[in-house]
Amino acid sequence: MKIILGPTSRELGEKIAKLADFETVPVAHRIFPDGESYIRLETSVKNEHVAIVQTTCMPQDTNLMQLAFMANASKRNGAKEVTAVVPYLAYARQDKIFLEGENASIETIAAMLRTAGVDQLITVNIHAENALSSFPFPAKNLSAIPLLANYFIMKGHKKAFALAPDKGALYIAKQAETILGGKSGNLEKQRDKYTGQTTQIGEHLNVRGETVIIFDDIISTGGTIVGAAKILQEQGAAHIYTACVHGLLIGNAEKKILDAGVEKIISTDSVPGKTNQVSLAPILFDALKAL
Ligand code: R5P
Repeated sequence: MKIILGPTSRELGEKIAKLADFETVPVAHRIFPDGESYIRLETSVKNEHVAIVQTTCMPQDTNLMQLAFMANASKRNGAKEVTAVVPYLAYARQDKIFLEGENASIETIAAMLRTAGVDQLITVNIHAENALSSFPFPAKNLSAIPLLANYFIMKGHKKAFALAPDKGALYIAKQAETILGGKSGNLEKQRDKYTGQTTQIGEHLNVRGETVIIFDDIISTGGTIVGAAKILQEQGAAHIYTACVHGLLIGNAEKKILDAGVEKIISTDSVPGKTNQVSLAPILFDALKAL
């Protein structure tokens, strides 16, 4: 197997390759003045199974097009199999129709990748796993929560309370609880379908004097974590941390979260960012080895 170092995930791709002595394929890329992308595989992929490592954070559309171009270039240049390794899969949150007249964006993305030459895909903590069942190729979803929970164990936070900021993240808090060995719970989050505005409600969580880690799949604007931190403070939590798989941290999200009393934000290298403390390389390597 050869690892194609996608422009958005070069470092992560190199880490995966090092774990197994896989050869890497560098990619030349540039953006034309009008915004279009150019890519070229710099070494041969003939008769190879290639894994293209390319996350699709901002700018999502550009990064998705580059992924599709790398898949197409692989097939054109004789690759026998193409696996897309996409830790953060853009558009996964629009996985169904919420209002009449919408599209299910992730279905369109999957169809585009299939046409480009992707034979299978590996992603990490996709927003809703059932989105993958409609993909026109096999797609595997991994969880980085054990890696994140182990980070907190290493930092001395055994038995910390694992909080999910909404019901959707409850499975995440449960996975963390198994490793941390403390308790877990969740808040409720309601989203207005038209404005996207959210409100959070928290029943009594029994966290007075406790260390609480808020676990989520994505931190985007930070609003969800800020809301959760407020509730935790009202309920007397002693220390609040947050951990996410995909730290998009748009605009001043990091500052907003820290200002809300969260002591530290921890994320994985799913997308580039300065809060990344945990690498996905080991679980991605295991998944590739198992193919
Ligand atoms: C949605 O339910 C996700 O799990 C995250 O909670 C959400 O994407 C976080 O977004 P934000 O940081 O903008 O509140």
